[in-house]
Amino acid sequence: MSETKQRVLITSALPYANGPLHFGHIAGAYLPGDCYARFKRLEGEDVLYICGSDEYGVAITLSAETAKRTPKEHVDIFHKINKDFFDQIGISFDHYSRTTCDSHQEPVYAFFNDLLKNGFIEERITDQLYSEQDERFLADRYVVGVCPKCHYENARGDECGKCGTAYEATDLLNPRSKLTGAPLVRRATKHWFILLEKLKDRLAEWIETKKWKPNVINFIRQFIKDLHARAITRDSDWGLPVPLEGAEGKVLYVWFDAPIGYISATMEWAKLQGDESKWKDYWFNPETKLVQFIGKDNIPFHAAIFPAMVMGQNLPYKLVDELPANEFYNLDGKQFSKSEGWYIDLEDFFRSYSADQIRYTIAANAPETQDSEFTWKDFQSRCNADLLGKYGNLVNRVMIFAQKNCEGKIPSPGLLEEIDNTFLKNIKMLCEESREAYDTFRLRKASQLIMELAQIGNTYFDAKHPWKDVKNPDTFPRMETTIFLCCECLKALAIVSYPIIPETASKLWKFLGFQSEIETIRSKEVLSSPLESGISLGKSEILFRKIEDTEIETEMEKLKKMSECSLKSKSLKTKPLEKIKEAIDISDFQKIDLRVGQILEATKVPKSKKLLQLTVDIGTEKRTILSGIGNRYTPEELISKKVLVVANLKPALIMGIESQGMVIAGLGEAGPELPDVPDLPVGTVVQ
Ligand code: 2FM
Ligand code: ZN
Repeated sequence: MSETKQRVLITSALPYANGPLHFGHIAGAYLPGDCYARFKRLEGEDVLYICGSDEYGVAITLSAETAKRTPKEHVDIFHKINKDFFDQIGISFDHYSRTTCDSHQEPVYAFFNDLLKNGFIEERITDQLYSEQDERFLADRYVVGVCPKCHYENARGDECGKCGTAYEATDLLNPRSKLTGAPLVRRATKHWFILLEKLKDRLAEWIETKKWKPNVINFIRQFIKDLHARAITRDSDWGLPVPLEGAEGKVLYVWFDAPIGYISATMEWAKLQGDESKWKDYWFNPETKLVQFIGKDNIPFHAAIFPAMVMGQNLPYKLVDELPANEFYNLDGKQFSKSEGWYIDLEDFFRSYSADQIRYTIAANAPETQDSEFTWKDFQSRCNADLLGKYGNLVNRVMIFAQKNCEGKIPSPGLLEEIDNTFLKNIKMLCEESREAYDTFRLRKASQLIMELAQIGNTYFDAKHPWKDVKNPDTFPRMETTIFLCCECLKALAIVSYPIIPETASKLWKFLGFQSEIETIRSKEVLSSPLESGISLGKSEILFRKIEDTEIETEMEKLKKMSECSLKSKSLKTKPLEKIKEAIDISDFQKIDLRVGQILEATKVPKSKKLLQLTVDIGTEKRTILSGIGNRYTPEELISKKVLVVANLKPALIMGIESQGMVIAGLGEAGPELPDVPDLPVGTVVQ
């Protein structure tokens, strides 16, 4: 009788395409989701792991405007950067979509229309802030003013940065536009509200059926008590237009459309499978287990607001079953922050270290019940003491020994002694415990168990001293039993470690002589059937290199410098400005040939912290130019950017590369800042 597969639909919070992601994000919603998906696939379940970029919202229009890009250009850049990062760190989404994709609008409108039909959406007239100068309403992120409570002059549109009071933007005194400084007036306008209070009782009843982390449940119980109507539309031209007449200039609020992105991404996946309705097998099937991985800041939307939206539908969408919400993962005591220079450059990181090293480090110290952090010292110790010292050591010694003494094959076991039986029993027990740990989203525990498994292997190898037994024909079979059981331990190790360190586990799998790929196996079957004696082992190699103290010191120094440099450039703002230099003749100035160029390619210069090699089109030709802006800009965000180039600077050799000009930059708050010249055609002479 064939076992029926459990359908498991896994999602990780859709990240905003509004800036590069960092390890903090990975620790919250992505590594835990990925490990769970990999675990469930090995268990033979029908897994679908879905994610995508969250691309609408006022935060995006604001950043795009600041960067002098259209919102679409902006999200295109960060969608790609983030997707590439997920690939690099091995997040195995079955589909990674985006909320600007073609499939998105239809389900979002269907959600809106059902909620409207069922009386859960209401039109209301409210006062909003309007800029007469720009002839538009401004969302709170675009607004600054005087705090109504403490009278701080520069208070944000939603919350005062000084006294912390939260308010509506319309409560600000003397509100003005953050971008232009233009004064704002109150003007009545129409918006649509979701009447969450109508779903309060259903939500309250439903939440009590969940066995989620106590902090999530307690928070949500309280949140539901205070549920009230919330505006689900905004005045903006970036977003899905409100699907009603008389709603011109209004779009749906990003948090309304984003969670429906889980559904539209599944629809897009189904289309790509050539079976358009296949998404329903997951979303409309009550037997599906829907597991949504999120960071703690996303709890209200996933545990109350989106479920309420689902409850207001006429179609039988799944409600979330499990909501593993993680705390924050910081960088050495502070939140990761690119603008404060408190971050790890990912390109540099992956040049020196592997995805599995960071995956294991994060998993071993996952922010499951409280905030945790990445430190370079901890990274070194996890990599050296655990991955290399325990895991790598066992693999290496068993493989080398078997190659040398067992003709490179899995030997046949002889009679089992008590020590062998105990070893087998312990392997089995650790495998079961690790299953339980993965199934209950405890990556810290699973990481510990991986190392325990490696350690019992090391202890067993030492206790059975096969290097002695090999020398005597009488004890030779005893040696073969030892190596056979060590290979059994390695097999278990590969399976148990695969969710967290998939690349390493796949290698180990091949070392053991398996022809199949580890991701295609069924862990239960493989664990319950013994290895086949006589199978040739694969060629093994060292799995982990030692990370030296000097490397870690350099990394720590780099972090310190980046953050000091960013503080320095911030304080430059408050420093007295430099004195104007000595006067020159116009003829001196005219010697400089300044042109508008456009960056076509950008790459990091190896071994340099901040140099980028740019290919710049200056109209007459393409130039290779080296520029020290790598601490401030990622290569990807520079593509197509227009810049000012000193075109007649003599070529200079920098780090072995000829630089044929100079790109002009000023020292801004976050490092060198390129002046914006988006409207001047390439080749324009600036004088
Ligand atoms: O906090 C965030 O990064 C949001 N973009 C998460 C959205 S999750 C979902 F609902 F789409
Ligand atoms: Zn205040």
